[in-house]
This record gives sequence, C-alpha cells and structure tokens, in this order.
Amino acid sequence: MANIQQRFDRLLACCRDLYEATPDLRDFASWPGELQFAVPEAVIVPAIDLVKGWKNHHPVHLALQDVADIAAWQRSYTENQVGQQFMKSYGFIELFGPTGHYLTADVRAFIGYWGAGLAYDWHQHEAEEIYFVVSGGALFRAQGEADRYLGPGETRQHKSNQPHAITMTDEPLLAFAMWRGPGMADPTSQANRFSDWSAGSQPEIG
Ligand SMILES: [Fe+2]
Repeated sequence: MANIQQRFDRLLACCRDLYEATPDLRDFASWPGELQFAVPEAVIVPAIDLVKGWKNHHPVHLALQDVADIAAWQRSYTENQVGQQFMKSYGFIELFGPTGHYLTADVRAFIGYWGAGLAYDWHQHEAEEIYFVVSGGALFRAQGEADRYLGPGETRQHKSNQPHAITMTDEPLLAFAMWRGPGMADPTSQANRFSDWSAGSQPEIG
C-alpha cells in the first residue's frame, strides 16, 4: 500500500490535472510553485462514510476516497449554527494553503462534500472563490446573479464579500474550490453567515 504522502500526492496530481484542463481555474489563479507536504493529523468526521460510500469514477473523487480516513477534515460551523443533520453530512479538507495538507502562502484549495438535501446557507468572505463541481451537483446562488444548477465540470466564481449560498437537492456535491486575494488566509470559520437569511430566500441587493 502506498504511504501517506504518496496517497496525498496522487490526490494533488489528480486535482492538478483537473486544474490544467479547466480554463476558468487556470484564469483564477496560478498553481502554486512550491508545495511542502505537512503530514496531517487525521481528523475524522461522520461524512467520511458518505464520501467513501459514493460510487463515482472521477479521479479526484477516487483519490479523495483513498485518503478520506487519514485526512484532516474540517467543518467551519457548529451544531448550534447549522444543526445536527448538516454537521453529520458535510466536511472539507484544505488540500493546499496556509494551513493545508500542502503548505503555500500563494493560493488556497479545498475539497468539500455536502450531502443531498443540505442547504449551505448564505455567507460571505473577503477572499475571492471559485468552485468546480467534481461529482454530483447543486444549485449555486449569489447576490446579484441568477441561480444556476451546476453539474460535473462546471464552475462558479464568487467575488470578494459577495454573499452566496449552495442548495443540494436530490444528489450530494463534491467540489474543488480555490481562494485567492486579500483574506485568502483567513480562517474559514470567519466567513460571515447571515442567519436571518433562511435558505431559499434571497438577500437584499445593495
Ligand atoms: Fe464561500
């Protein structure tokens, strides 16, 4: 069996392939030049079982499943904020970035999973963001823009401090996301949620 770094290197290489094949991602940010592997201390979340049980042939999907049990999973919300069901069926890893599995100060990349039926509520952050759907799909919503359902291979960009939300319907979502610009290194838990904007409602524009 491949050692820990080899398994993460495979995930990184698969993400790089996806990046190179996707003009929107290439336009968003350069691939970081130097990536130093930081052996993760595994953080286990309930969503790992959902990730591993979801059959899909995308190379990133498969490579993530291979490291799911040894990765440092994060959840930026608490049960009080989003409820037990959300906490049980979502999680993400920081693949590279200031606190990632690979360290770099240039740009940040995440891979996240959200279970079917979850509403990822309205929130905003200073860093600019791009999502790439690896598998599954979801309805992407952003202030000032039309809602759009994204499937595999499709991207969506969020501007600095642009409120956005993601609604999962009858399928889960596995997405690769990047952050760039001011606020890139902020803790993801500092993203402002709009608790008074219930899922399904649109924030006021302006
Ligand atoms: Fe975001």
